[in-house]
Amino acid sequence: MITDPKTPYPWINYLGNEDFFSLTSNTGGGYTFYKDAKFRRLTRYRYNNVPVDDGGKYFYIKDGDTVWSPGWKPVKTPLDHYECRHGMSYTRIKGLKNEVEAEVLQFIPLGFWGEIQKVKLTNHGSEKKSLKLFSLIEWCLWNAEDDMTNFQRNFSTGEVEIKDSVIYHKTEFKERRNHYAFYSVNQPIQGYDTDRETFIGLYNGFDSPDAVAAGHPSNSVAHGWSPIASHYLEIDLEPDESRELVFMLGYVEVEESEKWESKAVINKRPALSMIEKFNSVEKVDKAFTELGEYWDDLLDTLSIDSGDDRLDRMVNIWNQYQCMVTFNMSRSASFFESGIGRGMGFRDSNQDLIGFVHQIPDRARERIVDIASTQFEDGSCYHQYQPLTKKGNSAIGGDFNDDPLWLILSTTAYIKETGDFSLLDEMVPFDNDVSRAKSHFEHLKASFYHVVNNLGPHALPLIGRADWNDCLNLNCFSTDPNESFQTTGNKKGETAESLMIAGLFVVYGKEYVKLCRQIGKEKEGDEAEGHVEQMVQAIKDHGWDGDWYLRAYDYYGKKIGSDENEEGKIFIESQGWCSMAEIGKEEGMVEKALDSVKEHLDCEYGIVLNSPAFSKYYIEYGEISTYPAGYKENGGIFCHNNPWIMIGETMIGRGDRAYEYYTKIAPSFLEEISDLHKVEPYVYCQMIAGKEAFKPGEAKNSWLSGTASWNFYAITQYILGVQPDYEGLRIDPCIPKDWDGFKMTRKFRGATYKIEVQNPSHVSKGVRETWVNGEKMSSNLVPLLEKGKQHRVKIIMG
Ligand code: BGC
Repeated sequence: MITDPKTPYPWINYLGNEDFFSLTSNTGGGYTFYKDAKFRRLTRYRYNNVPVDDGGKYFYIKDGDTVWSPGWKPVKTPLDHYECRHGMSYTRIKGLKNEVEAEVLQFIPLGFWGEIQKVKLTNHGSEKKSLKLFSLIEWCLWNAEDDMTNFQRNFSTGEVEIKDSVIYHKTEFKERRNHYAFYSVNQPIQGYDTDRETFIGLYNGFDSPDAVAAGHPSNSVAHGWSPIASHYLEIDLEPDESRELVFMLGYVEVEESEKWESKAVINKRPALSMIEKFNSVEKVDKAFTELGEYWDDLLDTLSIDSGDDRLDRMVNIWNQYQCMVTFNMSRSASFFESGIGRGMGFRDSNQDLIGFVHQIPDRARERIVDIASTQFEDGSCYHQYQPLTKKGNSAIGGDFNDDPLWLILSTTAYIKETGDFSLLDEMVPFDNDVSRAKSHFEHLKASFYHVVNNLGPHALPLIGRADWNDCLNLNCFSTDPNESFQTTGNKKGETAESLMIAGLFVVYGKEYVKLCRQIGKEKEGDEAEGHVEQMVQAIKDHGWDGDWYLRAYDYYGKKIGSDENEEGKIFIESQGWCSMAEIGKEEGMVEKALDSVKEHLDCEYGIVLNSPAFSKYYIEYGEISTYPAGYKENGGIFCHNNPWIMIGETMIGRGDRAYEYYTKIAPSFLEEISDLHKVEPYVYCQMIAGKEAFKPGEAKNSWLSGTASWNFYAITQYILGVQPDYEGLRIDPCIPKDWDGFKMTRKFRGATYKIEVQNPSHVSKGVRETWVNGEKMSSNLVPLLEKGKQHRVKIIMG
């Protein structure tokens, strides 16, 4: 619950679960789209505007001479009370002014192509109130990029229809589009406006529309320019009386032959039947309850009781919710990602999957197949694909040599969660060409061998355009400010090698070997194991700098991330992956590397990516050296990779340190420093400014980040240590020593495991006894138990 509308930055929420989505801020800013934020945008939003967060779903209440908005913005009349509750796929904003309370509940019913806004007005005073209510949305002319740029055309194309209480947006419907949108209210209206300039006035902002000041609309009909939808309602309220109204912003697709009702009049039947579904408060309330049940069910799959509310709130609610949002959006649409740039990332979407596979395994399976379909026979792949077409994005291209390996992560995570090995036999196309389909297992094999077949001079993996760190562009050599660092490879990439991919290969190479053996492909597994062992050796021989793992070799074969370097002496990614791969653990390399992380990379707000940050442009390193020190990939706390270190710490049993790193970046632990941190204290962001930044601790780019899934994975599977495996749940916690234990409820393969971990000897790691339903087990691998039942699991650490 937010109690002050002036948050340090807009604190937002995502509504929608499948095809239809809205983003909404705590003051009612935001926008709506169907499936694809670029190609099917319903309402406008003004990015990076002055003031920030401009454009949304606004309501204006005129009560005598006072005009106000329930969410404070856009009018900004001080409210007597304000609160905003962001919840699972809904937002409820309440404002109180001069004894009138206005509550706006916004949500998207399950499986529905429309957003509901239930508005409740209550008169808490002792006098009768005569209120004037105006709604406002601004239509986007569908293609969000074109809408922002192609004004010579767009100012002439806008078209609407108004019938009863429904305003229809039908721009381009008469030619190549078979869809329209509408905005309705379930009461007779006393007027409307659909032309923006008429409603707002040319010299006003959203805060002071002419129509609201005048106290009446003009019943304007938009012809070109910027079409809007604004209803006008006169509402009388006796003392203690309430009125509830249901507004709906909907999207309709019609068959080509059914487009028209009569000449130039659109077929409104599909819209009317959508409106009919929610034309009463009872129907709306029922759908809202169903939405709540849907989320309860999803979140019930995994929940903990740790004794710390902040941790419970992250694990049980917000972190899982954010993972679902990254499933829906990948990196495409937020207040920072304008929704017109990026599609679904190959590496991003594979990694996101480890955060939601337990909640929606079927959709996760479908996602894996979609992703794998954009791969090529040699294991390489398109870096991104478009959600509407599911086709690889050729403008962005490929050759990010870490990409293929993430498919092994997502696939094995899916099979461990579900036991569904049949995915491996499914025929999956290469390059979306069904005639080139092979079994999904062959895709994994291609991923594994893509690394083996692309080794450099030190037998380490070639980096290609970049590895996970998009900004380490070792073959780019760019002097042209207009060229993209990531899609340009001005040099042939035959020398630059990545220790991050090397560590990644060992981790997922071992997974591949294990999977091969699991399905009886012993020979395949043995052969692959040989390659993994060679990689381990190559890292030991050429990837160790003395106190930490090197990061890379550049185009000239020079070390990156070495004490020999003047800047960028040590990097987080290779410390994370080589520690997770346990390379040289017996020789003390893992412990030493992680101690070096603590010494050189850790700071008050998290672990920075590299240190010292680069202070000048190194043409042979690319984009990483273009950022000012302490920001983004140049010494920022790039939150996505902090969990790699947490997991590394658990490999050597250091639970205190792993958890310390966890709490440094977990949003619920940062609430007190919100004024510095700025972004939402309930979701992870991409980056927090690092120790060398101008303003350490200040965060940017919340919501759509791989940080969500990796932190969830680190806390649940490595710190709390409950790991799905092929034959059961392996329980191997690595927690702070002062914890007495914790509880987790985990639904797994149809059964419910009530897990209680006790830590009587106050250790960080080690399981002394495992009990299942009162029976002592011989190991900490809890076997698959009877479906449909609850089972008691007791773990005694020590
Ligand atoms: C991209 C990731 C990338 C990360 C680090 C993010 O913006 O979505 O794919 O791994 O940056 O460069």
